Amino acid sequence: MPETLLNAQDLCRYYEVRPYTFAAKKTLKALDGANFELRSGSTLAVVGESGCGKSTLARLITMIEPPTSGELNIRGADVVHAAGRARREMRRHVQIIFQDPYGSLNPRKKVGVILEEPLRINTTMDKRERRAAAHEMLQRVGLRSEHYNRFPHMFSGGQRQRIAIARALMLKPSIVVADEPVSALDVSIQAQVLNLLLDLQDEFDLAYVFISHGLSVVEHIAEEVMVMYLGRPVEQGDKSTIFDNPQHPYTRALLAATPFVDPQRRAHRIVLKGELPSPLSPPDGCAFHARCPHATEVCETERPQLRTLLGRQVACHHAESL
Ligand SMILES: Nc1ncnc2c1ncn2[C@@H]1O[C@H](COP(=O)(O)OP(=O)(O)OP(=O)(O)O)[C@@H](O)[C@H]1O
Ligand code: SF4
Ligand SMILES: [Mg+2]
Repeated sequence: MPETLLNAQDLCRYYEVRPYTFAAKKTLKALDGANFELRSGSTLAVVGESGCGKSTLARLITMIEPPTSGELNIRGADVVHAAGRARREMRRHVQIIFQDPYGSLNPRKKVGVILEEPLRINTTMDKRERRAAAHEMLQRVGLRSEHYNRFPHMFSGGQRQRIAIARALMLKPSIVVADEPVSALDVSIQAQVLNLLLDLQDEFDLAYVFISHGLSVVEHIAEEVMVMYLGRPVEQGDKSTIFDNPQHPYTRALLAATPFVDPQRRAHRIVLKGELPSPLSPPDGCAFHARCPHATEVCETERPQLRTLLGRQVACHHAESL
């Protein structure tokens, strides 16, 4: 029976920002009420356009920053109020892989040092044990022993992402947050890195929170999907349920824009019109209303809440009549 590793309730992260110099501060709701569970060995995909709050969610889950409000539990333990050793122990269980394999590796450190650093800081392993663990991990991610003494700039983008993956796994985490891990890579390399992530998931029983702009990559790797729009989940549930019969107009638009998805699943053709609104002054009512072909008066004034429909959660006033 898979264990619930992560559990989020009404998770929010707000920032106080000045839209321009000397302007009064405004509240930017980068993440405004996410609810989800992540079970061991499974993948939750978080999908949406730029600025919808995906990386903000990643930073909360990996405890890089605290939520403004809401609950976040890792293995049933409260992340927000954890301190000291309990907090360090939780952090070990959650690791992150970033989009940019160039920026995320220290260019002045050799690969061996990069991989051993988490062990040096967090474990009592001696030098010889750390070295052995790093060599073993290099092999697991498809790199070679001689790579141990090289600097990051001596590798291709795909190889660097393998190094970042290896580093994330050194402390044997149970959860890995992958923030657009393949979007900076050549298309020909993307599939290799995705396959590696899938192999490692099996081997180490990893749970992934997989963040992505689009749905094409997600179809092959996720069990659950959460589609976000301007800081809020608008449709979430089982991957096949959502791909087979998306209920939110925004999900339909994303699917229609996904070239690799089975054409039958792209039957509902919606082309997104208009620009993404500013998250500093989101529209009233349904935040999607200015771009939605089905919007009515109620959509401009009343914010739709997530509700269960046809086996998934959807936030749209008119989902059943579309
Ligand atoms: N530290 C911060 N201070 C102020 N605003 C922030 C901060 N971090 C993020 N934001 C804002 O919060 C919103 C969500 O940002 P986030 O980086 O989570 O989006 P994203 O979905 O990851 O986008 P992308 O696909 O471009 O990576 C954006 O409007 C962003 O400008
Ligand atoms: S609530 Fe209205 S505007 Fe929002 S997605 Fe549904 S139909 Fe479109
Ligand atoms: Mg991001």
